[in-house]
Amino acid sequence: MDLHDYDDIAENYDLYTNSMFGNNSKLGDSATINFHLELAKKYGHGDILDIACGTGLTAIPLAKNNFSVTAIDISQPMINKLNEKAKSENIKINSVCSNMCDFKLKQNFSFAFIARAGFMHLLTNEDQKNSLKNIHDHLLPKGILSLNTFYPHHEVLSRSMKSDIEDYSLRVEYSNCKGNIEKIYNSNAYDPETQIMTGQWKFEEYQNGEIINSRVRPLKIRMSFKYEMINLLELTGFRIIDVYGNYGFDPAKYPGWLVWIVEKV
Ligand SMILES: C[S@@+](CC[C@H](N)C(=O)[O-])C[C@H]1O[C@@H](n2cnc3c(N)ncnc32)[C@H](O)[C@@H]1O
Repeated sequence: MDLHDYDDIAENYDLYTNSMFGNNSKLGDSATINFHLELAKKYGHGDILDIACGTGLTAIPLAKNNFSVTAIDISQPMINKLNEKAKSENIKINSVCSNMCDFKLKQNFSFAFIARAGFMHLLTNEDQKNSLKNIHDHLLPKGILSLNTFYPHHEVLSRSMKSDIEDYSLRVEYSNCKGNIEKIYNSNAYDPETQIMTGQWKFEEYQNGEIINSRVRPLKIRMSFKYEMINLLELTGFRIIDVYGNYGFDPAKYPGWLVWIVEKV
C-alpha cells in the first residue's frame, strides 16, 4: 500500500493538510478555493471538471457557488469522503473514480483544474502526455486547464540525492478523526535519472503519550522542470496564458510553485 491508495488516510486527509497548509495565505485551503473560484467565474460556463479532486476541498465550494461540477480521483476512499461531505451539505457533485490518464466522460468542459500537485503524481512522460491529451479531448474549444508543478529547487534536489531515506523529520502534529494526536514525519530521496522524488511518510498515532499505531507510506512525485513543462503543454495542444507562483496570483519565481493556466488550441 502507498499514499496513493489513501485507504487509511482519507479519513484524516483534510485534518492533516489543514494543519500543514491551512493558514498559508497563498497556498492554504482558502487560497486554493478562492483561486479556483476566481478562475471558474472567469472561464467557467456549463460544466467544470476537478481532476484528482481528493476529498473535494475545491469541488464542494464550487458546487455551492452553483457551478456544475464533475470530480474525478483515482482513489475510491477519497471519492467516498467527498461524497459523504457533499451529502452532509446537500450538494450535488458528479463524482467518478477514475484515472486522469484514461478517464472517459460524456461531457465537455469549459474549465478543468488539477489542484495541489495532483499532476505531479504522474511518474512517467507517457502518463503525463496521456493525461494532458485526454484532458484536451474533454475540453470545449478554447477551454481552460489549470494545474501546478514545482519549480524544482536544485539545492533541495542535490541534498535529496545524498539523503538517507530513513532520515525522517517531523512535518506536522495534529489531532486525528478519533481525537488522538498523530505525528507525521517524512524523508525524501531524489533520483535524477527518473526525476522522481521518493518520499516516506511515517504516521505515528498516540494515546495517553504511548504510540498505538505506526505506519509508513511511500509517496512518489515527479519533478518536471519549467521548460520541460512548456514543451509538454505545447506538444499536447495547449497555449500558455498565465503562470503564477501560488494561489494568490503572485508571479512565479525560482524556487517555488508554478501554477499554469493554459488554453486548448
Ligand atoms: C495531493 S492530493 C490533492 C487532492 C485535492 N486536489 C486537494 O487539493 O486537496 C492528490 C490526489 O491525486 C489523486 N491522484 C493521484 N494520481 C491520480 C491519477 N492518475 N488520476 C486521478 N487522480 C489521481 C490522489 O488519489 C489524491 O487524491
